[in-house]
Amino acid sequence: DRIPVLTIDGPGGAGKGTISGLLAGRLGWHLLDSGALYRLTAAAAIKHGVALNDESAVAALAGSLDVAFPVEDGKTRTLLEGEEVSRLIRTEQMGEQASQIAALPAVRTALLQRQRDFRHAPGLVADGRDMGTVVFTDAPLKVFLTASAEERARRRHLQLQEAGMNASLSSLLKEIQARDARDTQRSVAPLKPANDAITLDTTRLSIPEVVERLSELLAQKG
Ligand code: C5P
Repeated sequence: DRIPVLTIDGPGGAGKGTISGLLAGRLGWHLLDSGALYRLTAAAAIKHGVALNDESAVAALAGSLDVAFPVEDGKTRTLLEGEEVSRLIRTEQMGEQASQIAALPAVRTALLQRQRDFRHAPGLVADGRDMGTVVFTDAPLKVFLTASAEERARRRHLQLQEAGMNASLSSLLKEIQARDARDTQRSVAPLKPANDAITLDTTRLSIPEVVERLSELLAQKG
């Protein structure tokens, strides 16, 4: 029997990260934040002076990415080549750069096995854009989380404010729409629900409501 995987795909700002973390904690399962691998690859390229459109050079970096996710006091830190990059990779700019290198087929191939290696007992919650369509096609439960672009911009705005950072709502909305367009229109692994995915629109749902709904779905599958 294969180790179970719950895939959670969808556009940026739909709440995938928060929901995936809560579900993994509740289930006692491992967590794969695949977006972080794309963000880290972009950060490595910038650090080593590699152009973001140099497909083979960026793919080589992706294939030999030296990353670690040590947990301290219940918080997961992110290290790139031993250097703390937890905050750096969370910026909007790094998200944008991650989305650029994520459109390169050789980069996606280089990260494929690395993502599959996260599948350990008792189970895995995998958060991303192509978890159900490409990386874990045999996952017993696939979820596609969405929310309107306006709602996602509003949530991101709140998150930034809470972190003491400033950004205008209208510029966040523009960035979200640009990233959606790039992620859905690229030729490899475009953002779309798997044929067997359950789509959940979270525009009018709270985080606990989404966690509850997904726990129910998982229990039905179990
Ligand atoms: O989810 P997050 O915002 O961290 O992802 C950053 C970017 O990485 C996304 O906009 C997307 O272009 C890319 N990505 C991807 N496939 C994944 C996860 C992220 O292409 N599985």
